[in-house]
Amino acid sequence: MHKKKNKSLSVVVLISGNGSNLQALIDAASQDDYPARIAAVISNRNDAYGLQRAQDAGIAQKVLPHREYEGREAYDQALMALIDSFDPGLVVLAGFMRILSAGFVEHYSGRLLNIHPSLLPKYKGLHTHQRVLDGGETEHGASVHFVTLELDGGPLILQSPVPVLADDTAETLAARVLKQEHIIYPQAVKWFAEERLKLVDGVAMLDNKGGE
Ligand code: GAR
Repeated sequence: MHKKKNKSLSVVVLISGNGSNLQALIDAASQDDYPARIAAVISNRNDAYGLQRAQDAGIAQKVLPHREYEGREAYDQALMALIDSFDPGLVVLAGFMRILSAGFVEHYSGRLLNIHPSLLPKYKGLHTHQRVLDGGETEHGASVHFVTLELDGGPLILQSPVPVLADDTAETLAARVLKQEHIIYPQAVKWFAEERLKLVDGVAMLDNKGGE
């Protein structure tokens, strides 16, 4: 009999909404051989469905409402304190719809991942699916990247393209992209947990090979 692998990497996941990416991570982490565990889920909104997902999975969940803080710096300080109370090795943004202060990003440098619904560097920002349709693109997708000071501009780790179909709406396109997100995010977290993925001098390195 093999022993259960030691799940050494502790992850805090930040959400604002549905949490389908969180669910993909929960599902991955529930497998014996997955090298990371989710220590806590934190939402800036108390109505985020992802909180229910965390509760159902027996994971600690916290709400830190941004409205209760005066300004981004004050909120991010409180958020950092809450995150650090779980002592994570990795912080994962999974549909966390807030711009982060420089202090926050620097504090978690090299251990802060984001997933974005476009093939970065194209379509940074919001409403990517509609903008891709409006732009007449034939290809769209999702990207996982390290978070740096440039919004949606950090070093890329993994991307997954999907076709844009003639009869797509923003909703059908979003659903196709999300399916890919649910594959690539657990993969990137796994690589990080295995110490195969690192941010070195601003470059995402996988197995000591640089991406960008
Ligand atoms: C996902 O599509 C994620 O890529 C996107 O929000 C959605 C969250 O869905 N994130 C961003 O747009 C970040 N700028 P989920 O709550 O079901 O995981």
